[in-house]
Amino acid sequence: MNVYDSDKIRQSFENCGYEIADSVQDADVIILNTCSIREKACQKAFSFLGRVKKLKINKQVTIGVCGCLAEQEGANIIERMPYVDFVAGVNAIYRMPEIVKKAEDKKCRPVDTGFDSPAGEPLCQTSKSRVDISEFVTIMRGCDNFCSYCVVPHVRGREISRKPKNIINEIKMLVANGACEITLLGQNVNSYGKKEGSVTFERLIELVNEIEGLKRIRFTTSHPKDLGDNLIEAFKKFEKLCPHIHLPVQSGSDAVLKRMNRKYTIKDYIEKIEKLRKTVPNIAVTSDLIVGFCQETQEDFNMTLNLIKHIQFDGIFAFAYSPRPNTLAQKFKDTASEQEKKERLYSLFNLQEYYTKKKNAAFVGTEQKTLAEGLSKRGLLKNEKKEWTGRTDTNKIVNFITSKDDNPTGKIVNVKIEKTFSHSLWGIL
Ligand code: 5AD
Ligand code: SF4
Repeated sequence: MNVYDSDKIRQSFENCGYEIADSVQDADVIILNTCSIREKACQKAFSFLGRVKKLKINKQVTIGVCGCLAEQEGANIIERMPYVDFVAGVNAIYRMPEIVKKAEDKKCRPVDTGFDSPAGEPLCQTSKSRVDISEFVTIMRGCDNFCSYCVVPHVRGREISRKPKNIINEIKMLVANGACEITLLGQNVNSYGKKEGSVTFERLIELVNEIEGLKRIRFTTSHPKDLGDNLIEAFKKFEKLCPHIHLPVQSGSDAVLKRMNRKYTIKDYIEKIEKLRKTVPNIAVTSDLIVGFCQETQEDFNMTLNLIKHIQFDGIFAFAYSPRPNTLAQKFKDTASEQEKKERLYSLFNLQEYYTKKKNAAFVGTEQKTLAEGLSKRGLLKNEKKEWTGRTDTNKIVNFITSKDDNPTGKIVNVKIEKTFSHSLWGIL
């Protein structure tokens, strides 16, 4: 979502005649888009701001902070770092050039946060050279779930869905400019359109599925409590919808899930995964987990390990619990020490690594429909052959060489998988 927002900020500046600088050192305006999901992300932002301070010594530079940390901290940022010229919260990102103009006049240091003024619609335009094979499109903003550990509802505000027409137009524009795959973004896509009484998420997928030239559809994130049969059926119904679901479970213990205010039990979660796998046998399932949440005992954590063994995810993202301002969990005791959190995270990753490798190994000898995205990081190999990169429909990274000379970028090609690594597959076209 931040990548998407940063891209929209860039587009709005280009529309006002700004050019994108090659490096931070060359820039006249530096805008830092921030995340505040965990303390580490906030520290990274502050340390970046510490580093750019010296750029102001020799030249006129306007420095602004936007996004979730800006929303959370507001004017505190300017108090703490007086060389910051403006602070723009989550809804303000569509007013950026105006805010920068004010800041450049040096008459004030604007702080534009809060949710009183509307977020507005993201710009629906682009320059052709910048459209990637795989693009994101935000379909909704904010979140109403208030998981007790999570800062998102506090910094991104209440859930608002974009109009289907605007989403479809944006996707059509991206496809016309070369995009082949679209990932629909929202904190909880299952509740798309519910508040507004527009169309359901499944209907939105159907509309996107009809867009000519679009090859693949993905979405993230789905909340286990709201994942219904209609969405499960959608994987069978819409041929462009890729067989991959990211379904954050967060913990394997019902007691912890309750404290997290997740509103489902492990039994509910397992049932949903079973239904998904019954409906779409090759579906890849990935998840998010938090270790060391308030009052998580070793027994609770063992339940998380057992869940990993039971479900056998294709991949996970796991995080040590990080207390966040204004969240309900601030009232609970953060019992696990940093060392305990680290150890639990380590054993979780260790266990998952075994399943990721096992799942990947099963691909050897198979042909995988891969959407080629361009040259791999290695690009040109020593033997002068080019190495390409892409993703399977199950969202696994595939690096591959081709016996022919043509450029496969933007095509779905059948790659024969020869080798697998922890986080990628390798094959020949
Ligand atoms: N501490 C650690 N991880 C968190 N996440 C959200 N809030 C926190 C927090 N306070 C994780 C959740 C979520 C992912 C995007 O970030 O696992 O699914
Ligand atoms: Fe945060 Fe929960 Fe909303 Fe996800 S669903 S953004 S974890 S409050």
